[in-house]
Amino acid sequence: MLTQRQLFLQYNAQTSSSPLLLEFIKAEGIYLYPAQGPKMMDLIAGIGVSNVGHCHPQVVAAVQEQAAKFMHLMVYGEYVQSPQVQFAKALADVLPSQLHCTYFVNSGAEAVEGAMKLAKRYTGRTEIIACHQSYHGSTQGALSLMGNEEFKQAYRPLLPGVNFINFNHLPDLSLITTQTAAVFMETVQGEAGIRLADKTYYQALAARCKEVGCLLVLDEIQCGFGRTGKLFGFEHYDIVPDILLLAKGIGGGMPIGAFIASREIMQVFTHNPILGHISTFAGHPVSCAAGLATLQVIQEENLVEEVIAKGELFKTLLVHPAIKEVRGLGLMLAIEFESYEINKSIIDACLADGLISDWFLHCSHSMRLAPPLIITEAEIRWACEVILKNINKLLS
Ligand SMILES: Cc1ncc(COP(=O)(O)O)c(C=O)c1O
Repeated sequence: MLTQRQLFLQYNAQTSSSPLLLEFIKAEGIYLYPAQGPKMMDLIAGIGVSNVGHCHPQVVAAVQEQAAKFMHLMVYGEYVQSPQVQFAKALADVLPSQLHCTYFVNSGAEAVEGAMKLAKRYTGRTEIIACHQSYHGSTQGALSLMGNEEFKQAYRPLLPGVNFINFNHLPDLSLITTQTAAVFMETVQGEAGIRLADKTYYQALAARCKEVGCLLVLDEIQCGFGRTGKLFGFEHYDIVPDILLLAKGIGGGMPIGAFIASREIMQVFTHNPILGHISTFAGHPVSCAAGLATLQVIQEENLVEEVIAKGELFKTLLVHPAIKEVRGLGLMLAIEFESYEINKSIIDACLADGLISDWFLHCSHSMRLAPPLIITEAEIRWACEVILKNINKLLS
């Protein structure tokens, strides 16, 4: 009889010739449980998803309860479905007042697609500006915004009218003009290897967008929902985007995304033509119930409160001549090594010791740390010991 692994390779599409092939039968908190052998610590949270930990009991209960009441009823926006309403209201309650109108979708890339359409319709302009080294998803629109030619070139032609600026580079702001419909930016660049911008840069960016009448779209799909030590990353910079993009962590493990704007902006989807954005499963009631429960968990357990200190503990402990830098904010960190080969060998050695990490799409010489926000001090100490032990073993 074929094993699950063999069946996986035979019947499931692959996107790499060397998938990790780890197989788990259970996930709880920050741990993943293989069929055999010891549990593994998840230091990447399914790439920034399981902020409240895997299978948080409140999220599981909300999913079960909603699934037993109703699941899909109708395409997005036609029926009043209480999980969607309650989650949208809860988001509006924690966001600045101009971000009070939510369009739920199924994923991050779909939030990007919706926001691109919205910005074009609202401004009547077509140019979109994105950043070098950015990542906004893998659908054709989102891919058009990706700031890395290597991953795009095989799929051209992509969307026309997309231009690129350097992240955190003030002189490039002059490239944002009255032709620009929107600037799309990750508040903290993720796949670039966790890159931060200065507060002065963000304030100048927001002012420039206002000056030329284009929309500022902040992608918080990876950095949102507490990961940086604030519920939303833009709170670090005293700016408010015109459109906010969320996904990943907001569903507590269920698939959901959102683009959020003012009603004035969002209402362009209602006319000329009507049905400006259509999606069958968007805002799925079970995902919205999970999202609401996730936000409640973050609030009730004060999960954001200690995120900065936890990130600092990683930085304090991860000191070694082979580590060139530990970058990031809160629990969104990158450990930079000299090369991809060194990084990969340490990631693999840590995996063998039960510690799951990863590299970054545009920064293969850095190791990703994005654990569930519930990670404890003792767990951080253990993780750092394992990383340092393997650096010493491999590089001394
Ligand atoms: C910043 C950012 N934007 C968008 C996306 C795309 O999200 P999804 O994979 O849900 O389409 C990702 C996914 O990694 C991301 O990190």
